[in-house]
Amino acid sequence: MKRILVTGGAGFIGSNFIHYLLSHFQTVECLVNLDLLTYAGNLENLQTVEKDPRYHLVQGDIRDKVLVGKLFVEYRFDTVVHFAAESHVDRSIVEPEIFLTTNIIGTQTLLDAAISCWKLEPDNKYSREYRADVKYLQVSTDEVYGALGKIGMFTENTPLAPNSPYSASKASADMVVRAYHMTYGIPVNITRCSNNYGPYQFPEKLIPLMIHNAQQDKPLPVYGDGMQIRDWLHVRDHCAAICTVLEKGHAGEIYNIGGNNEKANLEIIRLILSELGKPESLIQYVQDRPGHDRRYAIDNAKIVAELGWTPVYTFEQGIRETIRWYLQHSDWVSRITSGEYQNYYRKMYSAAKV
Ligand code: NAD
Ligand code: DAU
Repeated sequence: MKRILVTGGAGFIGSNFIHYLLSHFQTVECLVNLDLLTYAGNLENLQTVEKDPRYHLVQGDIRDKVLVGKLFVEYRFDTVVHFAAESHVDRSIVEPEIFLTTNIIGTQTLLDAAISCWKLEPDNKYSREYRADVKYLQVSTDEVYGALGKIGMFTENTPLAPNSPYSASKASADMVVRAYHMTYGIPVNITRCSNNYGPYQFPEKLIPLMIHNAQQDKPLPVYGDGMQIRDWLHVRDHCAAICTVLEKGHAGEIYNIGGNNEKANLEIIRLILSELGKPESLIQYVQDRPGHDRRYAIDNAKIVAELGWTPVYTFEQGIRETIRWYLQHSDWVSRITSGEYQNYYRKMYSAAKV
């Protein structure tokens, strides 16, 4: 039976992961969701699991040492899945500091607490022995590798070359995780995933933002020429991959997770317009994102060959299902986009017009 700490479980991937874990694994005895509930955290995403006796919500900050230490003692976690982060590249360009503190110091705080609870001799700096049943999983991103040209893919050995404050903070956190494994011997895995899509994604990200604008006949802001490429993965395939790494991943290893679905942004935007029956005249080219990575593509051969995970969603199925989900959950979207979101949108997009 597992006792799991999930951080950032009220966000997009974290909430999908909690649904996935509680519905697929009877071996979960206790799952604590530690989430600060920033603008990106939404308890509505978790309404259907709230009454599950295994589920506990703690509103708090991953950088709060005292709180994190107390939770480890109280709940006796054997597993940490660390999603909590500032996750939006555009916000990181405007306000980098919070990305560095949340994403780097937050990671260090969790690792310190895990080591002091899981190490068999916590006061012996030379001891590298841990309880046999523990694991720390860092949810990272393909953005740590930087940008690709027209050919090639990211493997786990691609050198880190982050280009935005967001990706630099994620790469730094990965380095801290690696260093803690090398120095203290804590059993860790790092997963590096490509762009996720699916239900509950905050409408500041490409797919939900474009669906929302198209529905309202508002302009669809395309950065630069719209020919940047991302490698899309359905969020449930990502959740399944994380569970596979938790079960079978070898300590200290990094696993890339990707869906073999490279698409140019414009291709996706045109598909959304066509699914919604809206005209392409809604497309509005705006100033490009500074430091915009041109292409990401994940080579997922390692997780496929060594751990036996493969994605099950085709993009064609997943994107149509996702568009339907947003149309059927327009109340969920309206509640998010009616408040502070409007200030965000004005600030982010009014200066970008070309
Ligand atoms: P998100 O922005 O939707 O959610 C982040 C969650 O973290 C929110 O619930 C927020 O309240 C919480 N949070 C933020 N700061 C916190 C703090 N100091 N303490 C506790 N909780 C805090 O993010 P997401 O898209 O679900 O991404 C989850 C993770 O996956 C991130 O680490 C991100 O870097 C990584 N990732 C995301 C994608 C993607 O396509 N979305 C792809 C690869 C990797
Ligand atoms: O690759 C994984 C990463 O994917 C994650 O680590 C990040 O947390 C996640 O936010 C995502 O980053 P991107 O920058 O790729 O995602 P975003 O949805 O912001 O943008 C996707 C592409 O669409 C990118 O090329 C920028 C472009 N774009 C985005 C927005 C919001 C536009 O052209 N217009 C827009 O308004």
